[in-house]
Amino acid sequence: RVAGPCVLVLFGVTGDLARRKLLPAIYDLGNRGLLPPGFSLVGFARRDWTHEDFAKIAHDAVKEHARTPFREEVWHQLRQGIHFVKGEFGDDAAFDNLAAALREIDATRGTGGNYAFYLSIPPKSFPVVIRQLQRTGLARSSGGSWRRVVIEKPFGHDLQSARELNAIIDAVFPPSSVFRIDHYLGKETVQNIMALRFANNLFEPVWNREYIDHVQITMAEDIGIGGRAGYYDGIGAARDVIQNHLLQLLALTAMEDPVFFDADAIRREKEKVLRAVRLPHDLALGTARGRYTAGWQGGVPVKGYLEEDGIPPDSTTETYAAIKLEIANRRWAGVPFYLRTGKRLGRRVTEVALIFQRAPHLPFSSTDTEILGQNALVIRVQPDEGVTVRFGSKVPGTAMEVRDVTMDFAYGESFIESSPEAYERLLLDVLIGDPPLFPHQTEVELSWQILDPIEEFWAKQGPPEDYPAGTWGPKSADELMARDGRSWRRL
Ligand code: BG6
Repeated sequence: RVAGPCVLVLFGVTGDLARRKLLPAIYDLGNRGLLPPGFSLVGFARRDWTHEDFAKIAHDAVKEHARTPFREEVWHQLRQGIHFVKGEFGDDAAFDNLAAALREIDATRGTGGNYAFYLSIPPKSFPVVIRQLQRTGLARSSGGSWRRVVIEKPFGHDLQSARELNAIIDAVFPPSSVFRIDHYLGKETVQNIMALRFANNLFEPVWNREYIDHVQITMAEDIGIGGRAGYYDGIGAARDVIQNHLLQLLALTAMEDPVFFDADAIRREKEKVLRAVRLPHDLALGTARGRYTAGWQGGVPVKGYLEEDGIPPDSTTETYAAIKLEIANRRWAGVPFYLRTGKRLGRRVTEVALIFQRAPHLPFSSTDTEILGQNALVIRVQPDEGVTVRFGSKVPGTAMEVRDVTMDFAYGESFIESSPEAYERLLLDVLIGDPPLFPHQTEVELSWQILDPIEEFWAKQGPPEDYPAGTWGPKSADELMARDGRSWRRL
């Protein structure tokens, strides 16, 4: 899988995502020999940069953040194709310059009129950029070339705005040319959920309500909101990651096997799950939200959310969210799926844990099995990527004591291949035109349909409950589990 001749046009080159993820990912693809010789990268931004300035920014970003070692010859090759176009999004002349630059690149580097436009910009700027691409004819392919547009979340902030946003894109680009990035789908371990389930016969027979007691999906972060107040405040934890990353994890965990491993077949199965999701009857009991206050993280004192730069004192945005969902279908009826995410929690860990029902009968005495937990299968998305199975085992000795043990598969120990960064995988798929790892608009809308009633309910509740930074979230989240006789996994 190697990309054919093409140009990647990056809007938002001065942003954090470009510096930390996109530019390094492009270099890594080049380093792995996955980009064609004439590959070109065009940066578009307001800054008064020359081609050299942009190349220098890209160089520094690569040096600092690339996964693969820096090799002068790879950089040199990439450097030949780096261009910069200066302009405002509303400026027609700047987009005419962009069109002229692309024609020139096609003529000199053999890129064949194949362009991917990556919109790493705030959604409010989408309409004007899309209109400009239409006006200049850049959105339309001709003579066998292709044009693609890549958009980053947030895809709106509720169902209505997601639809409005899509209408703007849909009027200019055909659905098959639109690539929506949910970078969790680019993560190795997330893709491995499908391999684990559908390439084996061991797990699928017990992957249902007959054996599973409940499922916990956790995305815990130790970081705060950093310099992202402008984006985060008013959005909050649920819109930021539950609407996309966590519901995608839920869909992959709960879906039926796709008929083929192609985008349509996979999307169809994910959509069925999202359609079958049911909210708790009482949202006050089935959801929890929190906001971090000052505390300690890794031995260092950290600020509370309200003290972060740019956060208004009357903010009611949550930095922690937990939601209990059910999936109304034959496989999952009655099995709760608990989703939780938060910033400034105890540590960074993302996992999907399937917790099994207890054995129907234990022939051992209760003192022998006192500390025996429930069997669990845990897919660790990050860090320490792998899969763990927890089960009871006899403790060595003369008594029949049974205790929990774990069996671990760690990527690092089983494979010599290193995982590509999520963005590297996804960028390559865009350039190749391979859509299975990109959510479809229907999935986006279904996810908002799940979240909207919860957000509406929360909006009437006032500020979220406080939790000190470095802890595991608000008390109400523990109470949510305790009401069901369960508890969150200790991570
Ligand atoms: C992004 C969210 O989508 O994912 C961020 O907007 C979050 O708030 C980030 O920090 C986490 O990504 P990762 O890959 O570090 O788990």
